[in-house]
Amino acid sequence: MDHFLYRDGALFAEDVPIAEIAAAVGTPFYVYSTATLLRHFRLFDEALDGTDHLVCYAMKAASNQAILTTLAQAGAGMDVVSEGEYRRARAAGVPGEKIVFSGVGKTAGEIRAALTGGIRQFNVESEPELEVLNAVALELGTVAPITVRVNPDVDARTHAKIATGKSENKFGIPISRAGRVYAHAGSLPGIEVIGIDVHIGSQLTELEPFEQAYRKVAQLTEDLRAEGHDIRRLDLGGGLGIPYERSNTAPPLPVEYGALIKRTVGHLGCEIEIEPGRLIAGNAGLLVASVIYVKEGEGRDFLILDAAMNDLIRPAMYEAYHDILPVAEPAPGVEPRPYDIVGPVCESGDTFARNRGMPPVAPGDLVAFRSAGAYGAVMASEYNTRPLIPEVMVKDDQFAVIRPRPSFDEMINRDTIPSWL
Ligand code: LLP
Repeated sequence: MDHFLYRDGALFAEDVPIAEIAAAVGTPFYVYSTATLLRHFRLFDEALDGTDHLVCYAMKAASNQAILTTLAQAGAGMDVVSEGEYRRARAAGVPGEKIVFSGVGKTAGEIRAALTGGIRQFNVESEPELEVLNAVALELGTVAPITVRVNPDVDARTHAKIATGKSENKFGIPISRAGRVYAHAGSLPGIEVIGIDVHIGSQLTELEPFEQAYRKVAQLTEDLRAEGHDIRRLDLGGGLGIPYERSNTAPPLPVEYGALIKRTVGHLGCEIEIEPGRLIAGNAGLLVASVIYVKEGEGRDFLILDAAMNDLIRPAMYEAYHDILPVAEPAPGVEPRPYDIVGPVCESGDTFARNRGMPPVAPGDLVAFRSAGAYGAVMASEYNTRPLIPEVMVKDDQFAVIRPRPSFDEMINRDTIPSWL
């Protein structure tokens, strides 16, 4: 459920007409609903009611400071994967003890920044990382709290580029080697072992892969405890999918996911952490664009938008489906027409949808991409020297620009010319 609905013949974000935002900021732009963001965060929080838990929003999904501040004020922790994300989380008011640091390539500098600034735990992904972490902690005269991210060799049954839990993926330590790695970690004076971490992939549309992974983690918890490790926290990762294509079967709900967690690991008495990103931000954001031209092709019409693959890379990168709707509500009974919906970038991959049925639209009309709040703005680039598009946040009947569109001069003047030119 989201807060982008047709009302009086036009699409609204909460109580604000999308067309009003477009008139104020120009297209294309991203718009987020505060109510949807908070609703989805709370669904996870409530799904784990009755267990000691922390929902650490995976801020890689959408990391504008206004989004982070909204979630931080609601009590969210954060999952970060770089010093930049760590600094964003802190700047949004998230205390170090609510920040977990994930990622396969943490540098000594990043580890130092997080240990100095305060951190809940590092999710360690390799033995060499463990050594660096130990060395930096000792150098700072402190101890680094850790989980080891185990790779359970489970097929997440999602797009290959976003599956992470098979042994051929670069993530985590094979669960079969976990015993040895924990024994070594336990012997390092700069390391404090506190738990286990697992994350098997993103946009999972079934619970079964989670179940397989969590059962393996439960068994590992018991094995490690038997070897004397004080396993008291389980970080179960993120990955619950969202309904991009409304005609498909809806993915499981957070409440069902929460019940699965309680069923598989609840008996262990561990504190539970989860790291959802997409389900919190995805349906809380739209990408709004204008139609520049409608071009007649052979056997199809091309809808050429002012948004492009540099603004929303998901269709080009993962063959992802995004619903695209006219902002003016189509009159009842209007026959859809097939369009190839494309951007202006000079690549054939700059195609958002092929042969997509849509009510007829004309140049100047606004269209909205649904489910664009996660992995949208954060993955944007300035390819073709197209400025990063603005982000707007809505709350009830108010809206605010939370990242302005840069001017062309700002973009050009970021580069510097060597003295010999
Ligand atoms: N935790 C870890 C360690 C992760 O690597 C990720 C996502 C998450 C949590 C959050 O997963 P989520 O709940 O959002 O599924 N750019 C891709 C998605 C990449 C996901 C990367 N890791 C896309 O647009 O589909």
